[in-house]
Amino acid sequence: MIRFGPNRKWTDAPACAPAVREALGQRSLVLVGLMGCGKTSVGRRLAAATELPFVDADDEIEQAAGKSISEIFADHGEAHFREGERKVIARLLRNGPQVLATGGGSFMNPETRVNIKQAGISIWLKADLPLLMKRVMRRDNRPLLKTSDPEARMREFMEQRYPVYAQADLTVQSRDVPHDIIAAEILERLAAGPLARERDAGP
Ligand code: S3P
Repeated sequence: MIRFGPNRKWTDAPACAPAVREALGQRSLVLVGLMGCGKTSVGRRLAAATELPFVDADDEIEQAAGKSISEIFADHGEAHFREGERKVIARLLRNGPQVLATGGGSFMNPETRVNIKQAGISIWLKADLPLLMKRVMRRDNRPLLKTSDPEARMREFMEQRYPVYAQADLTVQSRDVPHDIIAAEILERLAAGPLARERDAGP
């Protein structure tokens, strides 16, 4: 069970969290992956552990537009949403260090991928279909899944997007376990993997 202190500190966060925070410098941790993989929940825990701000790109897009994502899709269409998403994420990436959860389609944009590569460390939360479906069916806030067969739609997204998500710096298997377990695993893998390699290579 996660325990947050008074300022949303994660009081029993993995011991490597401060080293991860330090190795990041001005860069952001950027979570990518399909709807329902846990980017927001895991991102909040990563932010608590590293004492960095947590930012959710979808929330920022909604604020910038003054509308919900469903309303943006309904009123202006997906292309308009994607354009706003590209701009908002480019702006947010200039504010590191932070933990940034991105919407599931954003990493498909080549320009956004380049921006993330330059300003952050990307983490793909890879999840299997049953877990994704279990999570997304709890809420009715994803316009792309408002079809007669949302599971078939999700399967298509997996086919189209998984090869692209695989370009992320780190892939972590999302599982049906408490989110703090996944967050701890990410921190440990970052400390032992991409960030450790940079430290060893020196300045
Ligand atoms: C989308 C994912 C959503 C949101 C929009 C489109 C996608 O974000 O950006 O509904 O294309 O996969 P989450 O991945 O946070 O649900």
